[in-house]
Amino acid sequence: MLIKKAEAIRSSEITPQSLYLNRRKFLHGAAITGAAAAAGFGLREVALPSATVLAGNKIDGIKKSPLSTTETVTPYKDVTNYNNYYEFSTDKEGPATLAKNFRTRPWKVKIDGLVEKKEELDIDTILKMASPEERIYRHRCVEGWSIVVPWVGFSLSELIKRVNPTSKAKFVEFTTLLDMTQMPGQQRPVLQWPYVEGLRMDEAMHPLTLLCFGMYGEELPNQDGAPIRVVVPWKYGFKSAKAIVRIRFTDKQPQNTWNISAPTEYGFYSNVNPNVDHPRWSQAKERRLGEFSKRPTLMFNGYGDQVASLYSGMDLKKNF
Ligand code: MTE
Repeated sequence: MLIKKAEAIRSSEITPQSLYLNRRKFLHGAAITGAAAAAGFGLREVALPSATVLAGNKIDGIKKSPLSTTETVTPYKDVTNYNNYYEFSTDKEGPATLAKNFRTRPWKVKIDGLVEKKEELDIDTILKMASPEERIYRHRCVEGWSIVVPWVGFSLSELIKRVNPTSKAKFVEFTTLLDMTQMPGQQRPVLQWPYVEGLRMDEAMHPLTLLCFGMYGEELPNQDGAPIRVVVPWKYGFKSAKAIVRIRFTDKQPQNTWNISAPTEYGFYSNVNPNVDHPRWSQAKERRLGEFSKRPTLMFNGYGDQVASLYSGMDLKKNF
């Protein structure tokens, strides 16, 4: 998703085709090539790296959720070593190492804007607000790769109900931590920092929208957004902000980082939609990490039965 001007791309970042084709033989599972190749970031090698499995802390009392897909779960090592997390690196394999010492305690989340009571909640208070559920969701990145992840968390609506937004609140904005001493990627202006994302209130309250603090039965690894992130499974992955420190309720549509960066390429809604191409590549297909062939992308990432009604009457080509 990085939009690099040609002069900003170091030649070392462009893999010669011959080398690239050779390296493909050594890829773990399948290479993720097509869609990503159209963007600046896609000019680099996109192989799955050989994995370091980082052990996490087990989360107790996780309930299975009926909202889970029965599709095959993507291996942990792939989900934790192939990440988009520009605060650490624009390389997919960078965050796993660079986020290793990221401090996720103490951690506070500021709740403000149009709420009855503005407050700062300790992460461990938030985690106790509801019992943890495992939700196995499809997760589709705008670049054309996808994964199936057993996330752990609870519906964001549980937190929203507790903090009492006023009737004027129509949107929710999420802000990621700003700390360039810990997040080396923030020393470069590849995006406007801090990372911000937003949802319409009905999207945020939707039962599928997950306030997520774990995966694979353990606490979230740092590279996947610890200590807390959102997961919105019918939207492209960039709507799912990581390492959230602020949740603000507002009456106006918040700005979102990728829309600020490239407004004609990334909209506010960003619903997964195989019928609306990215201006530089098709969104009709996707490649699951670890698989070779592409599969068709499903409208709303396959969650249409649950979410299509949120957008009835809207022109989804205009509201991309
Ligand atoms: N959140 C922050 N703060 N910074 C980011 O760079 N990348 C987004 C999203 N959330 C990103 C972020 C994108 S583009 C994707 S696809 C998902 O995180 C990737 O989540 P994953 O690494 O857990 O698969």
